[in-house]
Amino acid sequence: MSWRAPGRVNIIGEHIDYLGGTVLPFACGLEIRCEVQPLPDEIILVSDAETDEVRLPLDVADVPRPEGWARHIWGVARALGDVHGVRGRVTSTIPPGAGLSSSTALEVVVALALTDGVPPAPEVLQRAEQDATGVPCGVMDQATLLRARAGHALLLDCATGESTDIPIAESIGFVVIDTGTRRELSDGRYAQRRAEVERGDLPRQRHAETEQGRVFDAVEALRDEDVARLGAILLASHASLRDDFDVSSPALDAAVDLAMVCGASGGRLVGAGFAGCVVAVVDAAQETEVVRAVRQRGLHAWAVHPVDAAGPVRD
Ligand code: GLA
Repeated sequence: MSWRAPGRVNIIGEHIDYLGGTVLPFACGLEIRCEVQPLPDEIILVSDAETDEVRLPLDVADVPRPEGWARHIWGVARALGDVHGVRGRVTSTIPPGAGLSSSTALEVVVALALTDGVPPAPEVLQRAEQDATGVPCGVMDQATLLRARAGHALLLDCATGESTDIPIAESIGFVVIDTGTRRELSDGRYAQRRAEVERGDLPRQRHAETEQGRVFDAVEALRDEDVARLGAILLASHASLRDDFDVSSPALDAAVDLAMVCGASGGRLVGAGFAGCVVAVVDAAQETEVVRAVRQRGLHAWAVHPVDAAGPVRD
């Protein structure tokens, strides 16, 4: 049996999920797959991207947190409690540490493999990620990967868990640009920003408040198929993440500038920040041209389209 979980591109609503804010992500075509056969009493996984094999008992309650990628599998088995044994292989097209939710995709796909496809509640996998990495993440990535629908963004209220599917018109395109820089969220900076905004630090709070307004503005711009307005909203989000929340980097700022030079309407760092990728909004008719122009200037870029949430591989 083979399972897949997509990556996540957040259109807007960054660093507000853990404050109970409303966010607007979608699931993108990059994905992690996990192909498994049943085993009676063990979890054995290998990955194309890792040298070490993961080997865990079904009950990990007394197993200390392992190092490396095994910690994600351990976190999932621990959070789920009741899992099947499997032997399997993991393959991925999601660059790790790049703001596209590769660790949550791994956790979601493994959760499906260990339960024969019973989707857990997003909060259960949020706990798995927090236990595995020590990063006090919100619930956006888990909810996106478990609920998103093709052709739609997920307007997710992180306070209530309620969500609405927002159609993304064919005229609106999204391009991800990879700076090639990488980060580990367990380095403490994510936790530090979260603590600062929760303590009431003024610039951090200003970001959270203005970002929330921009999410609802972006929903309107999507509804009106107004690429120029959506672009301006994304640029304002990037400025706020850079100046008020302090999670950008020179490489991310440069990639947003590059997106503009190459014909995007706007762009912003995507995910937690510090390194990784930016998402740019483009007129869909220009998508290929923008991707080509960015690549010509030396950065990797590709168009992303909203796909369905995690589930069985159907091809
Ligand atoms: C990471 C976390 C999310 C969210 C984003 C920033 O992806 O896992 O919960 O906080 O950063 O918006």
